[in-house]
Amino acid sequence: MAERQGNSGASVGRASRRSFFKLLAGSPLLAMAYPALPPNWPQAVAREARHRAAAGPRPAGVPCPDCGTEMVFAPSAGAGRNAAQETGAAEQDRNRFLEGQLTGQVIESPDEAINVWDMEATTHSGNLPEHWAYLHLGVDDFETRKANREGFQRLMIRPRRLSGDVSGLDTSVELFGRRWDSPLFLCPVAALQAFHTEGEVGCARAAGARGTLVMQSHASSQAYEEIAEANGEPHWFQLYAVPDWNVNKRVLDRVSAAGCPAVVWTIDLLGGSNRELARRSLGIDRYDQPFCQNCHQHEPGYARPMRRDVGGPAGPRVPYTWDYVKRLKDATTMKVIVKGIVTREEAELAVEHGADGVFVSNHGGRAENSLRSTIDSLPEVVAGVRGRVPVFIDSGVRRGTDIFKALALGADAVGIGRPYVWGLGAFGDRGVDKVIDLLLDEFRMTMRQTRTSAIDQIRSEFVMERRSPIMMRGNRLGFGL
Ligand code: FNR
Ligand code: LAC
Repeated sequence: MAERQGNSGASVGRASRRSFFKLLAGSPLLAMAYPALPPNWPQAVAREARHRAAAGPRPAGVPCPDCGTEMVFAPSAGAGRNAAQETGAAEQDRNRFLEGQLTGQVIESPDEAINVWDMEATTHSGNLPEHWAYLHLGVDDFETRKANREGFQRLMIRPRRLSGDVSGLDTSVELFGRRWDSPLFLCPVAALQAFHTEGEVGCARAAGARGTLVMQSHASSQAYEEIAEANGEPHWFQLYAVPDWNVNKRVLDRVSAAGCPAVVWTIDLLGGSNRELARRSLGIDRYDQPFCQNCHQHEPGYARPMRRDVGGPAGPRVPYTWDYVKRLKDATTMKVIVKGIVTREEAELAVEHGADGVFVSNHGGRAENSLRSTIDSLPEVVAGVRGRVPVFIDSGVRRGTDIFKALALGADAVGIGRPYVWGLGAFGDRGVDKVIDLLLDEFRMTMRQTRTSAIDQIRSEFVMERRSPIMMRGNRLGFGL
């Protein structure tokens, strides 16, 4: 890693860390004695030692013409290679950096992440294939997953150079009377312990410390109460309604009693979803395998925490129509947000039936294969809502510029799903923290580049549409989406 970044010239800190590790690699005893090493130091030292062993005696580097200090380190060439082999090795190195830029690189500590795709590559490298497939999948041939990225890449940003004062940048937003540090939030994602033992608790700990809104999945690995404790305050809960109304009512009552201020009703999977990668990886349909039994169904009647203890007298089986929004509203004092709206007509209906918030989502390309990105759907939903309730959006948000574009087109808050799970899978709560940090760093930079100093200044005049996307990361079904 240190070598990968060595030629950037951007960070004195990294350069000195690199020389420090070189020193330690040459002297393992010194390394053992040094008290303030980063947690991944054994790997870093071992890697340096491997490089040195492979390289043989280190050739002289290029000295600074003024003071003679070695400025450019000679490549760690294999002893005895001829010139053609040297060129080939250097070429390979160069390609590795390029490849890593487009698909992410496996890293050993959160600090090494340059963007969210480094977390993706790292989680992939350490996760069970079945769990990875579940996280990665898009319906059919992933076209809607791709469309989500393409949608953002079809929008251009119109920067400002000297107009506007960005000396005091304020990224905070208010939702239902609570002010959050930024418009970024964590979407509900099921079964987070499939990616790291810290699960939802680790995510909530990281988000809470950063003033970031958390939405917990109904299908979570851990219970509402323990997640709220880690978060430092009650978070939002996402509901997958079941036919028996009383079961839903009992779940609502439970989270409401724990202080939950808002419930997000997800409606975009009601028609089913064609998840071929999950079937192919045998992760979904074959829970009967002994290993899977550890978590999925290890005793008769086993249920995920938020599906437990909801037995009792059966209730009416109420059809899922717009009246259901009113039914939810009447059943609870929590705010009710409807997740999965992608058209103007349904945005209007949601508000008319009492929804407190409208959430533009296609489930990260895991619901219907509409081929339509959420950022393309956003303007018509905003038009249908007409400022009456907040508008949320997710699916394909991977960059600070994506957050900016969604806000410019009228969203009030912008969610991420897979990216924070990549962070979690790679490094637990520290990975989630880093993902939030990366995205908000990029977002603040976009605000400075457009000379916007507060969220309400980010308006549609800052974006323009191009005819075709610039799809750098178009890599079929692989990483980088
Ligand atoms: C999800 N999503 C989801 N949504 C929801 O309402 N309840 C849930 O339990 C889940 N579970 C879930 C699992 C996994 C593995 C993924 C990837 C997604 C959808 C999620 O809330 C969000 O809409 C998308 O993840 C956003 O898209 P990106 O950011 O992943 O592209
Ligand atoms: C999913 C569900 C659980 O997308 O929302 O897998």
